[in-house]
Amino acid sequence: MNERKAIYVTTPIYYVNDRPHIGHVYTTTVCDAYARFMRMCGEDVFFLTGTDEHGQKVEKSAAAKGVTPQQLADENSAEFEKTLRKFGLSNDDFIRTTDPEHMKQVQAYVRTLKSSGAVYLGEFEGWYDEGQEEYYTETKAKDLGYKSPVSARPLVKAKEKNYYFKLSAFQGKLEELFKARPDFVRPEARRNEVLGRLKEGLQDVPVSRTNFRWGVEMPDDPEHVIYVWIDALFNYITALGLVKGSGCAGKNGKGAGDSRRKYWPAKYHVMGKEILWFHAVIWPALLMALELDLPECVYAHSFWIRDGQKMSKSLGNFLDLEAITGFLDRYGLDAWRYYMVTQGPLGAQDANFSDTHFHEVYTTDLVNTVGNCASRVTAMIGKYFDGVVPGDAGAGPRNDWNAIATEHVKRAKEAYEELELSHAVSEGLALLRKVDAYINETEPFKVAKAAATDAGAKAKLASILYQCVECVRVASLILGPVMPEKMMALWKALNVGDVSGTNAGAVNAREAKGVLELAKWGGMKAGTKVEKVALFPRVEVVKAEQASVT
Ligand code: MSP
Repeated sequence: MNERKAIYVTTPIYYVNDRPHIGHVYTTTVCDAYARFMRMCGEDVFFLTGTDEHGQKVEKSAAAKGVTPQQLADENSAEFEKTLRKFGLSNDDFIRTTDPEHMKQVQAYVRTLKSSGAVYLGEFEGWYDEGQEEYYTETKAKDLGYKSPVSARPLVKAKEKNYYFKLSAFQGKLEELFKARPDFVRPEARRNEVLGRLKEGLQDVPVSRTNFRWGVEMPDDPEHVIYVWIDALFNYITALGLVKGSGCAGKNGKGAGDSRRKYWPAKYHVMGKEILWFHAVIWPALLMALELDLPECVYAHSFWIRDGQKMSKSLGNFLDLEAITGFLDRYGLDAWRYYMVTQGPLGAQDANFSDTHFHEVYTTDLVNTVGNCASRVTAMIGKYFDGVVPGDAGAGPRNDWNAIATEHVKRAKEAYEELELSHAVSEGLALLRKVDAYINETEPFKVAKAAATDAGAKAKLASILYQCVECVRVASLILGPVMPEKMMALWKALNVGDVSGTNAGAVNAREAKGVLELAKWGGMKAGTKVEKVALFPRVEVVKAEQASVT
């Protein structure tokens, strides 16, 4: 096996003054599917998520509740972490911006920026979005009608003596970056928006605040706290302990200090489109100022909307945790993950979540295709060969399965690598649909009748079923990162062991192989004992849905 690549993938770190909802779950699931696939490829993956805990909003909410900001942050961060666990996420660490090791490193970076002159003390006036803790220029504020694009609350004119980051000095370098690396920001529609805004010209941005306390203190000037966005962006490198000699790393997960440095630069920073500017412009400029490498790709997905409308708490159509739990209870976790990954807004368009659509996708793709194919094939091996995988002596009607299956896996791999997740998954489904068609054509149940008395027919049946079960195994490799529990159940039934590369027990298999090797035709050995599987039970449409359909 070639040397393992160090791959780093990150989600935004989530604000602790919100409750976990579909948006947080979605981005984290996307990163999880990618991370799991890359691990299955044998790569050395580090997947990070966490919570963003400083800032005025947290300070205010805590005061309103009569608790300290730290108490509020502890409580809500724990809630986020616990919630994310429910979604089968395989993050290697969970960073918190109140972690003293993070804070120490943020101060070290800001100190470096101060001493190089990239951060200076000055006075600033601009339009401030209190909800988002973000400043806008006059032009931008005017475009927005002087209202927050997120909360629609009026922007307020604010003036502050602050530390500033010399963002304007990076205009030329950023333009060069975007020109030289067209894939630095994806998808393309988002890149074009960033380029458009970049053309308006960059202004220096404040990196400290004095009107509240809940944040990382400015080094050597404790009256100021570091602006929450600057503090937050640094999480991507503080989690790796990139500051020389800091020896710092998060509390759990693998490696510490120096051993995590190999993961930088990140392969993907994934986030929603509303926070792209910070990641596509401010973050690379900060990294340039610190002379650190830039991430490979900043990927901004679009938004989930519901039944054609923006989700909002006031409309009551918000997919909060309670609503999501309803789906998990009825359809199971992997069905939820499948819907997120294959139907989600990874591209430039928002994606519409509807209960009816969820049900249709579940039934068509998971019950009728994945589940049906796997159960059909394993049931026939059970019935005709006592559950023992028969050998393929080349007697059955042939498809060029070796080439077909390999091609699907290769295309899925390319798609996963490019973060085109629904495309990747569709390669697995396409392979299973071909298996179904092959079964319908070759009619093994009929061949089985003749096989009772005819050795030739028995050999033919053996060939047909071997080819089918081998295809099911190969398809499961493509689907595993999206539906880890169900595919693990399938691997158990097929008796092929854990090939996910995610669990400790599978490390050896992973290091020896990688997905293309695992997918090689013939991996399923004749003589293997397999069991019949029922992966996705049919779910009845509930009354409310029936009512809305008719
Ligand atoms: N704390 C900042 C991020 C700092 S990163 C250095 C923040 N936090 S957040 O809690 O508001 O999370 C925002 C993220 O949640 C979005 O970028 C996106 O990943 C996800 N989503 C929130 N609502 C969403 C939808 N309706 N649809 C899809 N994802 C969305 O911003």
